[in-house]
Amino acid sequence: MSTNQSQSQTMAIIGAQWGDEGKGKITDFLSQYADYVVRFQGGNNAGHTIIVDGKKTVLHIIPSGILSGHCISVIGHGVVLDPEVFKKEVDSLIAADVKVTGANLKVSLNANVITRYHQLLDQTRENAKSSEKKIGTTGRGIGPTYEDRTSRRGVKVADLFNKDILKEKLELILQEKEVLFKELYKIEYPSINEEIERLYELGQYIFPFVADTFSLLDKALSENKKVLYEGAQGVLLDIDYGTYPFVTSSNTSIGGIYTGAGIPGHNVDEVLGIFKAYTTRVGGGPFPTELNTPIGAHIQDKGKEFGATTGRQRRVGWLDVPLLRYAVKASNLTAIALTKMDVLEDLEELQICYAYEYDGKEYDQTFPGMDLSKVKPLFKTVPPFKKIMDDQGKLTDDAISYIRMVEQMAGIPVKMVAYGPERQQLHLVENTLGFLN
Ligand code: GDP
Ligand code: IMO
Ligand code: MG
Repeated sequence: MSTNQSQSQTMAIIGAQWGDEGKGKITDFLSQYADYVVRFQGGNNAGHTIIVDGKKTVLHIIPSGILSGHCISVIGHGVVLDPEVFKKEVDSLIAADVKVTGANLKVSLNANVITRYHQLLDQTRENAKSSEKKIGTTGRGIGPTYEDRTSRRGVKVADLFNKDILKEKLELILQEKEVLFKELYKIEYPSINEEIERLYELGQYIFPFVADTFSLLDKALSENKKVLYEGAQGVLLDIDYGTYPFVTSSNTSIGGIYTGAGIPGHNVDEVLGIFKAYTTRVGGGPFPTELNTPIGAHIQDKGKEFGATTGRQRRVGWLDVPLLRYAVKASNLTAIALTKMDVLEDLEELQICYAYEYDGKEYDQTFPGMDLSKVKPLFKTVPPFKKIMDDQGKLTDDAISYIRMVEQMAGIPVKMVAYGPERQQLHLVENTLGFLN
């Protein structure tokens, strides 16, 4: 199933599972065709890996367009920014000879800042939970920073340049947290003055990069520039559409673009859902197709399934079609990039979950509120494949059969197939991505 797509100006990269689908790799590739690459939600809980000519770059907060020197990378206002991580990442990119200046990297003045208090609260809260209640957060302060944004007392990037404003904001956010730190958790925390000095200094570093990114993108779109929106995490980690409460604290699906970066006067023309040919998850929460078997261990090992942010081992399972169908609907996906096909090469047994049994009924798609810890996954065995690509660089017939099956079940076409971590290990279904036209 392949549909020709007329030219498109805007495209979104959306993780369609529980994160780590290969968004960084796909964004890096597509950024060669983009004028702007925009992060719109999440923070440095993300870990996006790019490998070009054997050289590995892991990005947590900077958009994966940064390696394409011609394009402008934008951190939109929906992102929560840890200024220390931002500085470290910029410094290490510059040390690796990547061009990073105030001209090709822009940070929204309106993004919310992750402070030490947010990190401490995130980590301490998680530690205090019993093992079955632990979300398994990345401990980067993401949840508490979004909480303060919603309760209208967040520190914005624009606040970093004035110590009086910083003082006022930090007093407000510490007011209740202080009680928790002192009385409930009994932990040490930095004084307001220490935090003002640290953040102010980091603000001076960030100053050359800041911009009104909403107006920047508005102008870019009106000038017909090509804009690629890079999602972090995945649909099943979305605060509203995900497997609540085992989710992150932002809208990781398509809606996050409209609230977290703005796309004035436009729609997203193409929404590329990134799927692994199997499923992984880091952290807690139900996982219907999880494999605690030697095959699972093999996939984990061959796919190098370790978190790019925390180094934790990722849980591994078969492809889960009821989740896939739901992600297509929840994020309005128009096409699929299927990644890590190579990891399944040579397996003697290949299965996919085509439906769930739940409450005495069969479902081919999940829905919000379905208790995934109570579903029985129904599997079917599918023909395994020996190789993805033949010696002429074409997809093998076996790989094509697997891809056709995924398309048929998802109801949308596969337009990209990744078969290795390198930028070039990517097959494009010819003339189907409008963004490349
Ligand atoms: P992201 O968070 O969605 O950007 O994904 P991560 O970078 O956290 O995890 C994906 C991992 O798989 C990274 O180590 C990539 O280098 C690697 N990767 C991406 N695509 C492929 C692929 O098609 N095959 C293999 N073997 N590895 C891939
Ligand atoms: P990328 O962009 C995979 C998971 C955490 C935890 C839950 C909440 O690399 O795909 P948080 O720190 O956000 O409050 O943690 O979400 N999580 C991710 N899992 N990939 C990610 O990002 C993730 N970002 C957060 O493991 O279960
Ligand atoms: Mg990742």
